[in-house]
Amino acid sequence: MRAHELRSAWDRFFERRGHTVVPSAGLIPHHPSAPMFTNSGMMPFVSYFLGEEAVPYDPPRASSIQKCVRAGGKHNDLDAIGRSTRHLSFFEMAGNFSFGDYFKAEMIPWAWEFVTSSVGEGGLGVDGDRIWATVHTTDDEAEAIWADVVGLPRQRIQRMGTDNFWEMGETGPCGPSSELFFDFGPEFGADGGPAQGSEWRYIEFWNLVFTQYFRGADGQLTDLPNTNVDTGLGFERTLALTEGSSSLYDADGMRQLVSGAEQVTGRSLGDSDLGDIALRLLADHTRSTAFLISDGVIPSNEDRGYVLRRIMRRAVRFAYLLDVSDAVLVPMIERCAEMMGDAYPDLRTNSELILGVAEREEGQFRTTLANGSTLLDQALDGLDDDATLPGAVAFKLHDTYGFPLEVTEEMAQLRGHEVDLAGFDAEMEQQRARAKAASKGGGVEVGEAADEFRRLITENGPTEFVGREVSTTEATVLGIVGGSVVLDRTPFYAESGGQVGDTGTLSWSGGSARVLDTTFALPGLTRHVLGNDAAPDVGGLSAGDTVTASIDVERRNAIRRNHTATHLLHWALRQVLGDHVKQQGSLVDETRLRFDFSHFQALSADEIVRIEDLVNREVLTGEPVSHEEMSRSDADERGAIAFFGEKYGDDVRVLEAGPSVELCGGTHVSALGQIGTVKVTSEASIGSNIRRIEASTGLNTIELLRRDEATLGALAAELGTSSDELLATMRRRNDDNKALRAEVGQLRTEAARSKAMSLAETATDGVIVARVEAASRDEVRDQALALRDRPGIRAVVLGAVPGGKGVTLVVATSVDGDLHAGELMAPAAKAISGGGGKGADLAVAGGKNADGLDEALEMLRTALGIS
Ligand code: ALA
Repeated sequence: MRAHELRSAWDRFFERRGHTVVPSAGLIPHHPSAPMFTNSGMMPFVSYFLGEEAVPYDPPRASSIQKCVRAGGKHNDLDAIGRSTRHLSFFEMAGNFSFGDYFKAEMIPWAWEFVTSSVGEGGLGVDGDRIWATVHTTDDEAEAIWADVVGLPRQRIQRMGTDNFWEMGETGPCGPSSELFFDFGPEFGADGGPAQGSEWRYIEFWNLVFTQYFRGADGQLTDLPNTNVDTGLGFERTLALTEGSSSLYDADGMRQLVSGAEQVTGRSLGDSDLGDIALRLLADHTRSTAFLISDGVIPSNEDRGYVLRRIMRRAVRFAYLLDVSDAVLVPMIERCAEMMGDAYPDLRTNSELILGVAEREEGQFRTTLANGSTLLDQALDGLDDDATLPGAVAFKLHDTYGFPLEVTEEMAQLRGHEVDLAGFDAEMEQQRARAKAASKGGGVEVGEAADEFRRLITENGPTEFVGREVSTTEATVLGIVGGSVVLDRTPFYAESGGQVGDTGTLSWSGGSARVLDTTFALPGLTRHVLGNDAAPDVGGLSAGDTVTASIDVERRNAIRRNHTATHLLHWALRQVLGDHVKQQGSLVDETRLRFDFSHFQALSADEIVRIEDLVNREVLTGEPVSHEEMSRSDADERGAIAFFGEKYGDDVRVLEAGPSVELCGGTHVSALGQIGTVKVTSEASIGSNIRRIEASTGLNTIELLRRDEATLGALAAELGTSSDELLATMRRRNDDNKALRAEVGQLRTEAARSKAMSLAETATDGVIVARVEAASRDEVRDQALALRDRPGIRAVVLGAVPGGKGVTLVVATSVDGDLHAGELMAPAAKAISGGGGKGADLAVAGGKNADGLDEALEMLRTALGIS
């Protein structure tokens, strides 16, 4: 089966059964409980499973083919890839979902129908006699449906424990599952079904999860508001299966990528084990790379960027191992975009960015690899014959240079050395501990507070946000959790989309309290943070009370100005720099706006001026700003820019500010003129290919100008001139300084010369030996040369402790004489524990032992026959 055939069979099958077909979400998930990457089809729907958000589909069913990455966290397949033919770091998962709608009785027969009905009837056409099913040990119901409704023979239904309980991550939705397996036949291994037989023979390809629990941070399971269905059919696995292969690399799509890797590397499958691993790994890793960059991940040293960097470097490393010296990432990614661009057009629209990032990363890493090889060679050079290569060296190569241990081992063995594996492991363990310590934290609520927030949202639904219309309102207290208050409605904006939370006050008949911050405790549930204190004084306030909630209006106005200006700035950046500019992050508060975006190089002064002018011209039009709620498809029609991970399916807010049209849930000015003057205040790199720009608006810009003016005024006063004359005065001063420095230099030389002259009078038999004062080694040498060139001088020996540190000893002999400076120097240099020049007419030695200087001079006096 071809990939596009499976796509349309899947969509049609579930569409006919009342499902809304939803496009794949991005690879960067958004729910607070989500792991690093979208790793299964259900992830974009988590808040519907948890009952945190209303399900926007009627009936509440959806199906999708979701792009997934498993390369970190609970579901991490990265290390197996290449060696195993059954893992991929990037794959697609076809899924269907019921949010409190149908359950096992519908799902199991549907699964059977889809798998076994013929291709002509819209199914996969798989032989039903080859199918086995597993169910959870406790799940009598699922087993009965398989046996009695579907008619699957009981001996092909097996019960399993943890294997049939699926969980999204350490926390999150979960439940018992039923899995479908395909039996590849006795030539693939022992029989006995999935529970007892060979894992090479019975291959799982569809997981039906009956999601009915939530695993909390304390490890406890609680019932979800509804029973749900979440299934995941391995897209590549199913395609391979229809070709009679258990290797994912035989799936339509992957096969072509592997042959792309053959072309790019000039190797063929079957040439060698290492070659086969490398070809598969290149096919897989370059596909992940293309999709991750397209979804907004940029290689870096932290977080998602680090995982991407590992994936990219691993691909390059394996090419390097095969002695492929031409770049591999760019041609492989181009091949991938050809193969998958119809299903995922972003791969084509973002190709400039993807290829640019890939090319740079590969270029940099190839240099690193070359340096790593040099380091390894040096380390090996320094080893005794039987010595092992220290674990620390192998670890450094692994960690800093990206050398896999096997490569280091192999290269070391070629030169007759083993690697100290225990030492390597110890270093690795320390690194893991560091990483673990670093990954602690994050914003997810844990423990009792989390349960309480979940109860509040289940009972009351999301908080009503009225802060776009009013700045103060009466509201009812729903709960007080720790130091936070939850209300039924609020004018307080909860921190999100880069905009900081509001501050303000809550007041009630018995008292009042300051709100120091506002955040989401759960998506849609606003928490007014009264203090860091676990139990601030809320003066007897309790659930059910009425409060007046008022935000700090001046502060919010400043935030609004910065937020709308961010949109104009984003638009202007794309105008001036190009469409590859993509938002990578932003922060909007009352003092400034900060915007991170993808771009390859620093902005020139001229570009910044053009950007400022574009933005300020828009501001000066004073045009109204519109901020409307609409369906995602209307938003798309208006050409709204949506950046990675924006959620689909919901109603969205579209902000139109001058020429900028973007999805945004923040708060904004109502007319452009309210922004005031926008001034870029800084621009810098914050990682490879990511720039950060900061700007000010409104009164902050005036404040900034006043500060600059004050600084200029103070400078002018200091220089005794006016602001207008500042530059000219400064230039004159610099010129004067330059002239003065030259003069001082000349005077120093003259002083040295006259010192030399007075020393010349101490010559005995044409020989001068003296201890002198000097500021530098060069000065000693210059003095010595000036003296030697005086008539009648045969040899000059000067010693000094320049600047009080170290010893300098200079022997200069006349050019046409027969004294050899270097030979005279050799024994004397020892006395000052030094070494240095060995010239015939000039030897300069530097030493550490100042106490030995007099002895050295005495030795030279003797040698020159004047003592
Ligand atoms: N969420 C389930 C899985 O990923 C279907 O296997």
